[in-house]
Order: sequence, then C-alpha cells, then structure tokens
Amino acid sequence: MSAIELHNAVKEYQNGDEVIRALKGVDFSAGPGEMLVIIGPSGSGKSTLLNLIGLLDKPTEGTVSLNGDDVTGWSEGKLTKARKSSIGFVFQDFHLLPMLTAVENVELPTMWDPGVDRHDRAVDLLKRVGLGDRLDHTPDQLSGGQRQRVAIARSLINEPDILLADEPTGNLDQDTARDILDEFTRIKDDEDVAIVAVTHDQIFTEYTDRTIEIVDGVIQ
Ligand SMILES: Nc1ncnc2c1ncn2[C@@H]1O[C@H](COP(=O)(O)OP(=O)(O)O)[C@@H](O)[C@H]1O
Ligand SMILES: [Mg+2]
Repeated sequence: MSAIELHNAVKEYQNGDEVIRALKGVDFSAGPGEMLVIIGPSGSGKSTLLNLIGLLDKPTEGTVSLNGDDVTGWSEGKLTKARKSSIGFVFQDFHLLPMLTAVENVELPTMWDPGVDRHDRAVDLLKRVGLGDRLDHTPDQLSGGQRQRVAIARSLINEPDILLADEPTGNLDQDTARDILDEFTRIKDDEDVAIVAVTHDQIFTEYTDRTIEIVDGVIQ
C-alpha cells in the first residue's frame, strides 16, 4: 500500500480574475522505504504538489489517499491530526527555535500533547543522527549540517510514515549535503518511511529510488 497517493490531482489558484492551473491532473504515489525526488523549473508546481502530499492544501479536483484512506473530503481538524501523526517536514532553513536546545527542539512537536513524554525518543533520535554529544547545544552553537540533522530528528519524533523535505540541502555545502543524504538513506531503510524531497541539487539523483520531473503542472 502507498503511504501517500494522489489521483488525477488538479490545483487551481484564483488570482483576481485569472485562474492559475498549477497542477493539471497529477498521479503520484510514494511507498514505505522509498526515497523520491521532485525536480522541475521554478513555477512548475513543485511546492503546490508538496503541499498536497503534506495535506497542507486540498486539490481542486482529484483525490488524496493517506495509508489507503481517501482523505480528500476530511475536515481541517481531522487533516491536522493526520498530518501530525503521519507526516514530518524538513525545510531549507531548518526552522529551529534559537532559544531552545537541540533536544528541546526535537521534543517541541509533542509539547502540547498531554501525558506524552518524548524526551527519551528525542535523545535517541539525536544520537542516531550523530548528535549525542550536542543535546544541550542551541542552534547558534551548531553548524548548518548539524542544524539540519536536528531538524531531521524533530521531523521523526511522531514516527511519521512520510518525510517531506523542501530543498533540504539548499543552505549546505556539497560534503554536508552528502551527509544529509546518507542520513535520509539510513532513515528510509531503518524507519521504513517514504521520503519525498523537492530539490535543485543534482546529487540527489545519486541517492533516490525515483526522480519525478514536473514541467508546467504536468509530470513528465
Ligand atoms: N497561492 C498562490 N496563489 C496564486 N498562484 C499561485 C499560488 N501558489 C503558487 N501559485 C502559482 O502556481 C504555479 C506553481 O507554483 P509553485 O508550486 O510554487 O511552483 P514551484 O514550487 O515549482 O516553483 C506558479 O505559476 C505560481 O505562480
Ligand atoms: Mg517552490
């Protein structure tokens, strides 16, 4: 079964009188333990597609299924819950809170869940991404690659089925980018998550199972 599946997804944006058809009927699926990369020129619909996969936005037409359930008609509240339990996000600029330590940043997504203590899992995840000796460092005491590894640990705190990454190596040098890609490879193998990354970075193609090219709202 696919972790996430889009069927004939169309996304239109209303811009004044104009309708922008950003996705023109896209089929997409990603399964457990698979790493996919989405490439394409600026404005081709990559972020729009990632927003649909991440349940952050709904298609104008077509369907979205999460672990086999059709979630297209779900309420915002139900989608938010599903997103929280099933999807992890990693961003180009890390999105860490500067005043929190590494371990506090990793625990943050669970802070408002009553009765949940994820401290041990946060420590364990940081050890697994090679930061066992940096638990109490704040982001400004960490390198770019280390910050991204904290963000990756945070994205895994709720044991997601899908990890979405928007230009995750965009702010990193090539050697550090390779470290991050090695990390993704370990995660998809060990945790059986589906990893979907949007990138301009050519080195991703050396690591991915599948590359999806999108041009003008159409998968090639
Ligand atoms: N919120 C929005 N409102 C109107 N048009 C949008 C919006 N978001 C994206 N678009 C348009 O949809 C198309 C695809 O955008 P996007 O998915 O951001 O592409 P990419 O991430 O590949 O650069 C572009 O023409 C863009 O201008
Ligand atoms: Mg984009």
